Amino acid sequence: MATPLATLAQLISTGVQTLEAAYAKQGIPYPSLDAPFQPTPLDFDPALFQTAHLIIAAASQLIATVRSPMETIQAYAASMHTTSTLGFVVDADIPDVLKDAGPKGMHVKDLAAVNGIDADNQGTNFKSRSLIVAPNTFANNRISSLLIKAKSLDEIKADPEAKYDGAPIAAIAASTQASGYLSEFLRNPGNDVSPFNTAFKTQKTMWEWREETHNVWRARRFAVGMKGGGDVFPANIFTDGIGGEKLPADALVVDVGGSIGSVTPETRQSLSPPTKEITEGEKFWAESAPELIESGRVKLQVHNFFEPQPVKDAAMYFMRVVIHDWPDVTAKEIMANTRKAGGKESKLVLFDLVMPYACETPGAPPVPSPLLPNLGIAGAGFVTNLDIEMMTVFNGKERTVDQFRALGEATGWKLEEVKPGMLFAFVFSAV
Ligand SMILES: C[S@@+](CC[C@H](N)C(=O)[O-])C[C@H]1O[C@@H](n2cnc3c(N)ncnc32)[C@H](O)[C@@H]1O
Repeated sequence: MATPLATLAQLISTGVQTLEAAYAKQGIPYPSLDAPFQPTPLDFDPALFQTAHLIIAAASQLIATVRSPMETIQAYAASMHTTSTLGFVVDADIPDVLKDAGPKGMHVKDLAAVNGIDADNQGTNFKSRSLIVAPNTFANNRISSLLIKAKSLDEIKADPEAKYDGAPIAAIAASTQASGYLSEFLRNPGNDVSPFNTAFKTQKTMWEWREETHNVWRARRFAVGMKGGGDVFPANIFTDGIGGEKLPADALVVDVGGSIGSVTPETRQSLSPPTKEITEGEKFWAESAPELIESGRVKLQVHNFFEPQPVKDAAMYFMRVVIHDWPDVTAKEIMANTRKAGGKESKLVLFDLVMPYACETPGAPPVPSPLLPNLGIAGAGFVTNLDIEMMTVFNGKERTVDQFRALGEATGWKLEEVKPGMLFAFVFSAV
């Protein structure tokens, strides 16, 4: 019988053959890491996505098995520096400078001269990045090319506050903060609401804090990132999630905590009450679907979801990635407010991620041994990181299906259906 190590190697090798065969069938080479990102017709093939994730799960498990535990701990202990370096690279517009330099890349001194950073300080650090093409010379690769912003360097210089507009991946990658205070926060419960509050020396929630004048650029960057989420998630997640095809054309649908309302155009029949992001929302709607605003079919309203919900008896209240921002006690307040406003027939739909168990659970899809049932970094890795991010910034969390059900039970909502996908849809009916 093959050993666990040999089985992992076999999973990788079989997976690689599957990927290469699929690309060969299309007559295209498998994308190289060295060249900037170019879309291929196979990028969103669900079967290949699954194959790639099995390879990633097996490769990371193989690394964890063969690397000395000491080296693994050293790597994890220092991995926050990767995050902060990523934030710096994006903020300093380095992928944008490299784009203009072309495939031959740019020497670190010239790179520094273009964007005003200190070459002597940065040179050594840059050396470790995978985009190196010669000593001290860098070019974009498949990964960094995705961080290029939508604006030219001249446009960025002219209006730095708007530099993330149109570049959701860069906006999200740059929004890193506060993680260094996680341990202090967890060891001193009650001192601060979240590590974010300790880091930025504020009692406000991140949402209130970023409305301060000096943080307007952060709010704008965040809105771009959230809109990007809408672009990345296929529209049918939302229409299927709210049962859009079954709703009468005049059904009232409320997007609670809807930011600029970027989910709403996908549903084409919603009313979106965001917070102060309303100005950005108005701009967004004027560009994307002005006719729906003019006809009154979509209304933007400012609403604090800790206050009574003003839209009564709607067919549907929905929230996209809102509940994971809050601890249980606050999440219940938000959900209870929708319940008080709703009628007997109203539904609540929560679009959120799900925290899978790392052990085997009934009904979960089978995974080849010896991989972890949650596929480790290939599966639960993202949601685990996001869970810690939510705790860091808001004292929020990602939840298991059972935890969502319990939130509903505490607030008068019965969990009726869970629709799996890139974002899960939790459909609740009124009790
Ligand atoms: C993670 S974002 C999700 C936004 C939107 N649902 C989406 O998917 O693009 C959470 C949103 O909650 C909003 N929010 C925070 N506190 C709020 C409050 N008290 N009332 C209403 N919205 C609030 C924030 O402004 C932010 O837009």
